[in-house]
Amino acid sequence: MINLNLNILKKISEQYGDAFYLLDTEQFRNNFIELREEFQKIYLKTNIAYSYKTNYIPRLCKIVNELGGYAEIVSEMEYEIAKKLEIPSQHIIFNGPYKNPEKLGFLLLKGITINIDSIQELNLIKNIIADYPERQFSIGIRCNFNIGDGVISRFGFDVEDKDFSKALTLISETPNLRLKGMHSHFATRDIKTWPIRTKKMLETVQQYYDGIPEYICQGGGIYGKMDPQLKVQFDTYIPSYREYAEVVCPLYQKQYGELPLEKQPTMFIEPGSALVGDCMKLVSRVISIKKVQSKDIATVLASIYNINPTLNKKIHLLP
Ligand SMILES: Cc1ncc(COP(=O)(O)O)c(C=O)c1O
Repeated sequence: MINLNLNILKKISEQYGDAFYLLDTEQFRNNFIELREEFQKIYLKTNIAYSYKTNYIPRLCKIVNELGGYAEIVSEMEYEIAKKLEIPSQHIIFNGPYKNPEKLGFLLLKGITINIDSIQELNLIKNIIADYPERQFSIGIRCNFNIGDGVISRFGFDVEDKDFSKALTLISETPNLRLKGMHSHFATRDIKTWPIRTKKMLETVQQYYDGIPEYICQGGGIYGKMDPQLKVQFDTYIPSYREYAEVVCPLYQKQYGELPLEKQPTMFIEPGSALVGDCMKLVSRVISIKKVQSKDIATVLASIYNINPTLNKKIHLLP
């Protein structure tokens, strides 16, 4: 963690004004390394595709790339960031329920991994690649199923719906198209859902994928590190990175651990908040402190929207 004292803050303030963010890149780097290592200790073929949308400050995206992680993107704008940072195309995974039809062909030709979200998107891809019969293309498919959290996620194909089987058939019938991986993402971070989503993902792959895929993405939905005063404000248990790894990775190890390493599918997790949630601080000059009835009130030169734009009820205090 950044070692803060008043002198340092005053110096920064001289340059940046009355309110500014501090980015703790060391914390981010350590989080990335620790999270991946916890998973790799049990299933070595794990990697991280960092969810750009969570926080795409280029410095963070660059660190991910330096550490061998991938870029998980959902928009053209995020692609532009990845391109500017010279992230290799093979290290970019494009999820997201909307992919601009005019850019899709360009991204496919670049060799970016596209995980399709609907049959409409697959049809677009089929039309695009029909113009390149001599080239081979590969895509992934986003899978959706019930993980018992009471939420119907909007991401991907319902694996029990006819569109899912139809998409798999369409892919296998397209001569220059291959399915290389399967993806899922569920927003809930409750660790109780992780054995369920992992098992269902592995069962889906077993049932519908002919052979061993190159990758299986387990998505995001992992809690980050928190101070005890923040943890107690959640109504679910806040697990450590290791606890997530311990419910996910043994299932992968059991399924694929006997295979030679090069044949094992890469298992991606796509953390956003789990990596970056504790890496930024907002610093602000305090203008006045007063007491109104029994309440202490400090007026600062920053806004609540700078740290809590959705105005959730969680209170972030310095430890
Ligand atoms: C496909 C995908 N992966 C990863 C994430 C990151 O989620 P989290 O911040 O919960 O790890 C999201 C967030 O919505 C997402 O949609």
